[in-house]
Amino acid sequence: MKEKTAIVLAAGLGTRMRSPVPKVLHHCAGRPMISLVLHELLMAGVEEVRVVVGHGKEQVCDKISKDFPGEKSKIKFFEQKKQLGTADAVKSADITSLQGSVLICNGDHPLITAQDYSEAFKLGNATDISVVTCVLKSPESFGRIVRNSQGQLTEIKESKEASSDELKIKEVNTGLYVVKAEILKALLPKIKNENSKKEFYLTDIVKLALKENKNVQALLMNRPRLSRGVNSLVELAQASRTLYLRKAKELMLQGVQIEDPLSTFISSTVRITAGASVGPGSKISGQTEIASAVKIEGNVLLENAIIGENTVIKWGSVIEHSRVGAGCVLGPYARIRPESELEDQVHIGNFVELKKTKMSRGAKANHLTYLGDAEIGEGTNIGCGTITCNYAVDKKKYKTKIGKNVFVGSDTQFIAPITIGDGAIIGSGSTITKDVPSKALAVARAKAFVKENYNKE
Ligand code: UD1
Ligand code: CA
Repeated sequence: MKEKTAIVLAAGLGTRMRSPVPKVLHHCAGRPMISLVLHELLMAGVEEVRVVVGHGKEQVCDKISKDFPGEKSKIKFFEQKKQLGTADAVKSADITSLQGSVLICNGDHPLITAQDYSEAFKLGNATDISVVTCVLKSPESFGRIVRNSQGQLTEIKESKEASSDELKIKEVNTGLYVVKAEILKALLPKIKNENSKKEFYLTDIVKLALKENKNVQALLMNRPRLSRGVNSLVELAQASRTLYLRKAKELMLQGVQIEDPLSTFISSTVRITAGASVGPGSKISGQTEIASAVKIEGNVLLENAIIGENTVIKWGSVIEHSRVGAGCVLGPYARIRPESELEDQVHIGNFVELKKTKMSRGAKANHLTYLGDAEIGEGTNIGCGTITCNYAVDKKKYKTKIGKNVFVGSDTQFIAPITIGDGAIIGSGSTITKDVPSKALAVARAKAFVKENYNKE
């Protein structure tokens, strides 16, 4: 049993998203909402997170396990079989095994930070129940915080159940609570579903606790991000924008130049060292790491890409699940597909596609080329229009190995599997079907044929 436990409610269908994807798996600023929430909770020092899953549970559990491979002992899943309401969801998280104070939050509030969770925990620890609240200009469907004349919380009224006077209340329930485990054990079973939605509302716990003279408070933290739950794709886009701007600001303050933060989309998982610069229209996500003095011209897509110092990525390039060394130049319009590795000083020019290809130090492929399942040696120059024919009629992929300092003339096709020795020279326009030894010249094209005075016109 853990001292600092959080329960995350993530079983709901998310009807208002109008999407087949489970709500909490929708990406917000390049990361599933549930992963953003779990990341912040773990950063806040929560020792155990109990995630209540229901709709799309296999997908949700699977994604979380993949996103947090090292946290299996901290993140536990509990199934809520039927979505009978938020009180029932909390009950599903095996409350009998809880101790101390428990933080309860929603899986669809991606903007809450570790600091918010920590502070809520600290401020709520002393009470039996603390409800974190916020004052909103348009409180719409949020639960309203009803206080008595002394300003003490008396109940939370769901908007569907509220009177017209109660609907005028601007202070709302953010859905973040700190509750003593003992209170949950004693009161959750007493909550009834006598309301318009026939749901068991967690919010009803407030009234029940007050009846038993428990210490209950509304904790006005008044940070708008606490209440920015995502219930529709419109709200998802708004939350994404907020997170992208938050990340851009953080990076700029650390010395990363971002030309236009409004058109730059960098996920929270990305690491960029001071001195790098990112141009407009760029989308950078996953475990991407960008070293110092890297220049990203703009309109690029980088996902799980490791980029070494002083590398220039020119306009319109795409790099996925690959590693690029220092001092390389890529693009404009280069495409580096997964499992590629570029050592230092490699040049990849326009309309060049690499897949599962290693380019050793100083190798170049500057124009209109496809290199797949290939190894290109140090200092080798791949001429314009070269193609590795890696896919055979047997539907298998074969490798092309090209040694050091090879000169590959333009418009060459390598029919894999094939090996080209160090220092070999391949004549332009060749279709190479057999291995070429070191230092050899290989030419495989029809001889030029010239007939003079052929055109009689
Ligand atoms: C809830 C609160 C409301 C608060 C708002 C803040 C209740 C009754 N109402 O309303 O006071 O202002 O959050 O955003 O608690 N869930 C389950 N199982 C269920 C039902 C819901 O896991 O059976 C999960 C949902 O996936 C979601 C969270 O609980 O992550 C909140 O549920 P939702 O239906 O979005 O509640 P709201 O109507 O927003
Ligand atoms: Ca909600």
